[in-house]
Amino acid sequence: MTDYKMLCAQLAALTEGVDERISNLANAAALLYHTLPDLNWAGFYLLRRGALRLGPFLGRPACVRIPLDRGVCGTAAARGETLLVPDVHAFPGHIACDAASASELVIPLQVGGALYGVLDLDSPKKGRFTEADRTGLEAFARALETALERGE
Ligand code: SME
Repeated sequence: MTDYKMLCAQLAALTEGVDERISNLANAAALLYHTLPDLNWAGFYLLRRGALRLGPFLGRPACVRIPLDRGVCGTAAARGETLLVPDVHAFPGHIACDAASASELVIPLQVGGALYGVLDLDSPKKGRFTEADRTGLEAFARALETALERGE
């Protein structure tokens, strides 16, 4: 089981004193991708000019623009709530960037009191993400938001 307390501490150490948001997002994606087992994609979509745009990530090349309300990412962003999808093929409107993806967890991020983007994690394993992962990764997202608040 992933030690999320440790993961949040590692994120805090990596982001300490860093005021470049893109640098913090890139290191957060790398930390997640190399710590969590069974992932094929870990990264961010950022809200720019009315749509989610591809941000820092590790994994295969992905779709560059996702309208709000479309796919798992756009739906989570529009609702402002985490979406844990155990089987992406059963999710209406799922956008298959990597055919290997079987389950997905998307957590919206807020900066300055407004939607900033989403954290997106994909797994080739059905049912990869548990409630414990959701809770732990929401804590990770809150720690990341704190780091992003002081950046540009
Ligand atoms: N599957 C996502 C699209 C992004 S990729 O998985 C990286 C979705 O349905 O929103």
